[in-house]
Amino acid sequence: MSNYHIKHLEEYYQVYRKSVRNPEVFWEEVAEEHFLWRKRWNNVLQWDFSKPEIKWFEGAELNITENCIDRHLNTRGDKTAIIFEPNNPDEETQHISYRELHDRVCRFANVLKEKGIGKGDRVCIYLPMIPELAISVLACARIGAIHSVVFAGFSSTALATRINDSECKMVITSDGSYRGAKTIDLKSIVDEALEDCSSIESVLVAKRINSDIKMKEGRDYWLQPLLDEAYHDCDPEVMDAEDPLFILYTSGSTGKPKGMVHSSGGYMVYTAYTFKNVFQYREDDVYWCTADIGWITGHSYIVYGPLLNGATTLMFEGVPSYPDFGRFWEIVDKHQVNQFYTAPTAIRALAKEGMDHVEKYDLSSLKVLGTVGEPINEEAWHWYDDNIGKKKAPIVDTWWQTETGGIMISPIPFATPTKPTYATLPFIGIQPALMDENGEEIKGNQVDGRLCIKYPWPSMARTIWGDHQRYKDTYFSAFENMYFTGDGALRDEVGYYRITGRVDDVVIVSGHNLGTAPIEDAINEHPAVSESAIVGFPHDIKGNALYGYVILKETGESRNHDNLRKEINQLITEQIGPIAKLDKIQFTKGLPKTRSGKIMRRILRKIASKDTSNLGDTSTLLNPEVVQDIMDNVL
Ligand code: PRX
Repeated sequence: MSNYHIKHLEEYYQVYRKSVRNPEVFWEEVAEEHFLWRKRWNNVLQWDFSKPEIKWFEGAELNITENCIDRHLNTRGDKTAIIFEPNNPDEETQHISYRELHDRVCRFANVLKEKGIGKGDRVCIYLPMIPELAISVLACARIGAIHSVVFAGFSSTALATRINDSECKMVITSDGSYRGAKTIDLKSIVDEALEDCSSIESVLVAKRINSDIKMKEGRDYWLQPLLDEAYHDCDPEVMDAEDPLFILYTSGSTGKPKGMVHSSGGYMVYTAYTFKNVFQYREDDVYWCTADIGWITGHSYIVYGPLLNGATTLMFEGVPSYPDFGRFWEIVDKHQVNQFYTAPTAIRALAKEGMDHVEKYDLSSLKVLGTVGEPINEEAWHWYDDNIGKKKAPIVDTWWQTETGGIMISPIPFATPTKPTYATLPFIGIQPALMDENGEEIKGNQVDGRLCIKYPWPSMARTIWGDHQRYKDTYFSAFENMYFTGDGALRDEVGYYRITGRVDDVVIVSGHNLGTAPIEDAINEHPAVSESAIVGFPHDIKGNALYGYVILKETGESRNHDNLRKEINQLITEQIGPIAKLDKIQFTKGLPKTRSGKIMRRILRKIASKDTSNLGDTSTLLNPEVVQDIMDNVL
C-alpha cells in the first residue's frame, strides 16, 4: 500500500488529509493490509469522549504475537529479531532469530500456563534489559495475560504499590542486574515488596548475575529449569481487539500511579504503522532504541513496533557511560546501526564528554536519529545533527506519551524538513488542537496554548486500571470533547509544533515523567517534616531537576540541615527510586498559598529557576510575606 511508507512531504500532506478526512476508512485500510486477524471487525471505530469510551476494530480477533513472530517465520525465520548487547562489552553479543524467538516465547508462555496464569491475569515483570524481558512480555501476550512491566530502577515500595493496584498473580524477575560497574540485587527488592502483596502466587527468577539469593519454597522458581522442560509450541490465545494487552504505570498529580491500559488491536496497528514511517525502516536495517522496556518507549519501539515490522531491534543492557562515554557509538559501529533513538538527556550528557569518544567510531551507517521524552534544546539538537548524524541523518523529535501508546507529533525523515527543537507535524491521523484557558480552540498559526487531541487514534489508552473516573477526570474533563495531554505547545508560522513543557504538576527529569505529589508524600513521611512542595528547575544535563521547599516541624528545626537533606533523599529513594531524588532542598518557614489554601507552584518554580523578574501579583496570597523570605534564601 502506497501510504504505508511515506517518502516525501507532498505525500505526507496527501496521506494526512485523507487520514483526517475519513479516519475510519484510512485506519481500516492500514489494518486490512498489514496484519493477521483471526476475525474481521464489525466496526472500525466507536467513540465518545464524554464517557470516555473508545473502541477500535470492535469484534475483531487477533493475537499480537502471531503478528510479531509467527507471521515472519516463513520469510524471516533466520533473520535476527533481537540483538542483545550486554552491559559488559567483553561478554558475547546474542543474536536471536525470529525462529528462536518463537521457540523461546512459546516455551515461556507454557511455563506461565503451568504456573496457573491465564487470559486476563496480570503478571508483573521486574527485569533488567536482558532478552527475558522482551520474551516474557511476548509470552504474556501469547496467552492473553496482561503484562505490567515495572522499571527495574523503582524501589520495593513503588513495586508493591503497582503489584497491588492491578492485583498481579505473578512476578517475573532476576537474581540481580548489571548497571555499569554496579550490580543490583533485584530479587531482594522483590522479596521486600512481596511482604505487602497478597495477590502474588509465584515468582519466576531468571539467572543473570549468579548471586546467592533466597528462594521462598513454594513461591519462587528458577526460570531456566522450567523453560528446559517446557513444550516448544504454544497456540496463541485469540484476543478481542479491545482486550487489554498491557498495563503501564505513569505518574500523575496525586500520589497514586496511574495504570494506563492499552488495547490489543488498535495498539498493534498504530505502533506498527508509526514505527515504519517515523524510522523509515528497510528490510536489512538494524534499529536501536536506547530506552528501557520499563517505559512506554521500550514497549512500543523496542518490542512491539519493530517486531510487527519484522525488524532487527537491538536491546542494550548497560548505560552510556560504561566502560566509557563512547559505549553508544561503539555499539552503533559494531552493529552498523541504521536508526538510533535516544533521549535528549543522554545526548546532553554525551556531548559534555567531548568528541574523543565519538571520533573513534564509524557512525556512517546511521540514517535516522530520533529523540523522545522531553524537549530537546537547540544546542543538543545541533550537536546530535553535526557530530552523530553528520548532517546526513534527519532527526526525528518525536512527541508522545505513555497514554498515547505511539508517536503523535514527529517529522517523517526525508519527507518533513526538520527544525531544531520542533517536533514538527502531527503524525498521520492525529488531530492536535491548541486550547486557551477559557476552553476555546486557538486557530491559526503563530499561537500557543494547551495541547489537546480532537479525535481518537488507535493506540490511545482505554482507561486507568480500576479507576475509569480518574481517566475521565485527568484527560477528558479539562476541555470538552478533547483528550488533554498536560503539555503546552506552540504552533509556528508553517504549522510546526514545538512542545513547551508540562502545564501540570508533572516534571520531566532526564526524560522520566515524575509526578510531584508522590515525592511530596514520601518527604512528608519524615518525622521532622511538616509540609513540602516540589518543583522543577532547568538543569544542563537532566533538562529539569527537582527543587524541594520543605517546612520543618518544631522538633526538626534544631537538626543539622545537611543530614536532613540526606535523610529526605533516602526516603525518596526507598519510596520511589533514585530517579526521584531532589537536587536542592531549601528549608523554609512557609509556602506561598492562595486564599483557598492551594500552593502557588508557579511562584516556587520561578524562584527555583532564579527568574524572579515577573512573579505576578502576589498580594492576593494568603501569606505574601513568605515570598520574599524564600527568595532571600534560595539555593
Ligand atoms: O511532556 C511530554 C514529554 O514527556 C511526557 C510523556 O512522558 P511519558 O509518558 O513518560 O512518555 C515519554 C516517552 C514517550 C509528555 O507529556 N515528552 C515526550 N516526548 C517529548 C516530550 N516533550 C517534548 N518533546 C518531545 N519529543
